[in-house]
Amino acid sequence: MNRREFGFGLAGLAAACALDSLTYARDADTIRVNGARLNEHLQALAQFGKNPQGGVSRVAYSEADRQGREYVMGLMRAAKLDVSIDAAGNIVGRRSGRDLSLKPILFGSHVDSVPEGGNYDGDVGSLGAIEVAQTLAENNITTGHPLEVCIFQNEEGGLIGSEALLGILDDKALDRVSNSGKTIREGIRFLGGDTSKLSSVKREKGSIAAYLELHIEQGGTLEAEHVDIGVVEGIVGINQWEVTVEGFANHAGTTAMNNRRDALLAAAKFVEAVNRVVTSVPGRQVGTVGRIQAFPGAPNVIPGKVILSLELRDLDAAKIQMLYQRIRGEADQIAQASKVTFDYRPINENIPAPTDLRVRTIIDQSAKELGLTTKQMPSGAGHDAQDMARLGPVGMIFIPSIGGISHAPKEFSRPKDIENGANVLLGSLLKLDDVNW
Ligand code: GLV
Ligand code: MN
Ligand code: MN
Repeated sequence: MNRREFGFGLAGLAAACALDSLTYARDADTIRVNGARLNEHLQALAQFGKNPQGGVSRVAYSEADRQGREYVMGLMRAAKLDVSIDAAGNIVGRRSGRDLSLKPILFGSHVDSVPEGGNYDGDVGSLGAIEVAQTLAENNITTGHPLEVCIFQNEEGGLIGSEALLGILDDKALDRVSNSGKTIREGIRFLGGDTSKLSSVKREKGSIAAYLELHIEQGGTLEAEHVDIGVVEGIVGINQWEVTVEGFANHAGTTAMNNRRDALLAAAKFVEAVNRVVTSVPGRQVGTVGRIQAFPGAPNVIPGKVILSLELRDLDAAKIQMLYQRIRGEADQIAQASKVTFDYRPINENIPAPTDLRVRTIIDQSAKELGLTTKQMPSGAGHDAQDMARLGPVGMIFIPSIGGISHAPKEFSRPKDIENGANVLLGSLLKLDDVNW
């Protein structure tokens, strides 16, 4: 069955951005995903890297990651997608469109996890996208635009797979050691990519019609307010640094308390300063020290060196820089008082990304047509969508996370919400297809 063509220019869409009054002519208005199948697939994927706490440890480039990806590729083939692994190790499932002149619509997410993560972050959007492709295949629907289901590799390690599409994965990034213990370069090879051909993966700005991502909210707003679907307004910028504090390692029994250069004590003051600076101004910005290592790491040695992580997030990149400078100012004072030094190495930067107003409007209308309630909201978590926003219009669909728990084994989203999210993804995709992007 071919879906009905109809002229729906961007100008018309922009002019009617309230959209409530807009009607879309579609042959496929009534098709729905198979929610039971999607939830079964999620349970099956959760077996790869399953941990005793009930979640998964499927960090990128681990054996569990490789096996999980094999499972996902099997699902993609069953959904009649033309599956390949690109040179950056991303999984891409292509589906032809009717009109060869149109740019592809991309949709997907990631299946790698944080260490001791949950079963929904990334998985819902990835398997939801595959379920949408399968639903299109079962209903013999051919879209006008070609479609690409993208399962990005190593989202949790800094949006690595989607950075490859931007062409910004340089040697320094490739040599960084990931949570798996492998460098990113080794990891890409491990997944079946080829770092010598990374330029083949790069896409130009304007080369995609749109990118859509379904994801769990990872916060507690939707559940608390009894809202079914979050329509994401923008994704926060994320800056991360490795901070090294150098003091002097010495005997813990013979060195008087007033004669120490204790790097861990200075680091503890730094952790407190980060919290104080970030909470000293109004707004939704957040700052975290999530990892800290003391050296040499013995009960009877004063720590001479500490390596810690600093992460700052906000929708406004300038605000992140302002907070960073204030934190450094505080650290300078700690350094002087504690006779230590602080050194900062930027390790990751994802710039904030607003989503596209037209795509947001389409998501909102798709949800409402399904009888679902919606809320416009920012994303405090990072997503591959923020890299894709540098290539073309993006939109993100959130579903509730129970208890607002994420990046933890107790992460949970209800099967019905997952099904709803996938149906909104399907409806939005079909509406996006009706626009000549
Ligand atoms: C990715 O999940 C992030 O927000 O860290
Ligand atoms: Mn995610
Ligand atoms: Mn995550």
